[in-house]
Amino acid sequence: MVHQSLTTSGKWLAAVLVLVFSGTLFAASNDDIIARIAPAGSVCVIGDACAGGAIVATAAGGGAEDPTQVYNTYCVACHGTGANNSPIMGDAAAWQPRVDKGLDTLYENAINGFNNGAMPPKGLCMGCSNETIQATVDYILSALQ
Ligand code: HEC
Repeated sequence: MVHQSLTTSGKWLAAVLVLVFSGTLFAASNDDIIARIAPAGSVCVIGDACAGGAIVATAAGGGAEDPTQVYNTYCVACHGTGANNSPIMGDAAAWQPRVDKGLDTLYENAINGFNNGAMPPKGLCMGCSNETIQATVDYILSALQ
C-alpha cells in the first residue's frame, strides 16, 4: 500500500514535471520566436526616435554634414595647426591672397586638392559631398570676418 502510494505520487510528480518542463519549453520556443521576429519589428525609419543612431551614421558617411563638424573632424588637423604650411583658420594674412583668387577657385581646390595633395582632395573627407566641402570652406572663411 505504501509502495503503491509512492508509485502513484511518483506518477503525479512525473506528470507535474512534464507539465513544468513543457511549460518551460513552450516559453523558450516563444522567446525564440520573439527573437526571430524582433529584427523585422525593430527596423527604424528616419524620423523615428529609434533612428537617431542611423542618422548619426549617415552623417558620418556622407551627405548633408554640418560644416563645423566636418572642419573639426578633418580640416582642423591641418588648418588648426598649420601642418604642411596650411593656412590656419582665422589667420587673415595667410588667407587673404587665397581669397583674392576668388571663391570658386577655393572651392575647386578644396574639392579636388591643391599643390600636389599638400591640400588633399576634400580635405580627406572622402564621404563629403562637394556642397559640404564648399560649406566648410565658407565656415573657414567666416573666421576672417
Ligand atoms: C593634410 C592637411 C590638410 C587637411 C586635412 C585639409 N587641408 Fe586644406 N590645405 C592644406 C594645405 C597645406 C593648404 C595650402 C596648400 C598650398 O597653398 O600650397 C590648404 C589649402 C586649403 C584651401 C585654400 C586653397 C587655395 O586655393 O589656396 C582651402 C579652401 C582648404 N585648404 C580647405 C580645406 C577644407 C575645407 C578642409 C577640410 C574638409 C581641408 N582644407 C583639410 C592642408 C590640408
